[in-house]
Amino acid sequence: MNRIRTALLALMLACSAPSFAGDDSLYRALGEKPGIEKLMMDFSARLKKDPRIGSFFKDTNPKALAEQLRDQVCELSGGPCKYEGAKMKPAHADLGVKRGDFNALVEVLQQSMDDAGIPFATQNKLLALLAPMHRDIVTR
Ligand code: HEM
Repeated sequence: MNRIRTALLALMLACSAPSFAGDDSLYRALGEKPGIEKLMMDFSARLKKDPRIGSFFKDTNPKALAEQLRDQVCELSGGPCKYEGAKMKPAHADLGVKRGDFNALVEVLQQSMDDAGIPFATQNKLLALLAPMHRDIVTR
């Protein structure tokens, strides 16, 4: 009897593990791939225009950046995408990004999310995933 219970428990754990690892609730809350793409198009256009950090993006093609960000955020939020762009550390190594620049970028993203009508709780979940990246992006 005990052996059957143990086997049943192992089976339950095996079945529940993938659904936890594959939690796509944030991805869905962000409007899946089309919603994320729209958000990232708006975000990268705003980045270029931002008086504080726009100069970082003066030579950037906003559509190309938005596509990279779309795949990155889609993957991070549990969606079915694979980000294939550069790793964050080498991508930002020579830019000289300061903490204040990072915070400004987060504010711009918040503006985009506000305008897209994304609820505050959903915004915070995405920001919580992005925040630790400052270690690889802020270099001075
Ligand atoms: C959590 C914060 C950030 C994320 C998730 C992020 C993400 C990315 C991604 C995915 C790319 C594209 C890499 C590639 O093309 O392979 C990129 C490039 C870039 N990022 Fe960031 N980044 C962040 C913060 C910043 C900050 C704070 C700045 C400057 C204020 C910045 C400036 C740039 C620039 C200038 C590029 C190059 C764009 C180009 O190819 O023209 N990033 N970033």
